[in-house]
Amino acid sequence: MENTMERLVRAALEAREKAYVPYSNFPIGAALLTKDGQIFSGCNIENASYGLTNCAERTAIFKAISAGHHELKMMVVVADTARPIPPCGACRQVIFEFGEDITVVMRNLQGDSVQYQSRELLPAAFNRRDLD
Ligand code: THU
Repeated sequence: MENTMERLVRAALEAREKAYVPYSNFPIGAALLTKDGQIFSGCNIENASYGLTNCAERTAIFKAISAGHHELKMMVVVADTARPIPPCGACRQVIFEFGEDITVVMRNLQGDSVQYQSRELLPAAFNRRDLD
């Protein structure tokens, strides 16, 4: 029986296989766990207009949000990198929107991993309270 972390890693690896990366050839997979126990995964999706690329992390988050799951607990990100793959700044902001205490696990294909809480990845983050 797989535990939650193993399920997330497997889902992220499977999503990575679906990455649409004709320009960078740099596939990334992400998988997240919602507070109510569901898993959503995503891959990076590139575009001939490069700036329209959507990162794996945001694909997974947008799938969860559009399915009605707003509270996220954990995310795993996987790529073929020397060190565990760190999410880009834009993704950090989007992760933070849906939880300041989300565990973000960065991994490479060798299984090296490090984890942070979303608040640690974006100190002094702009957030909804700044709009009050
Ligand atoms: N990428 C992600 O999917 N997530 C990140 O956090 C970093 C970058 C993608 C975007 C692009 O398709 C490729 O990696 C190279 O930048």
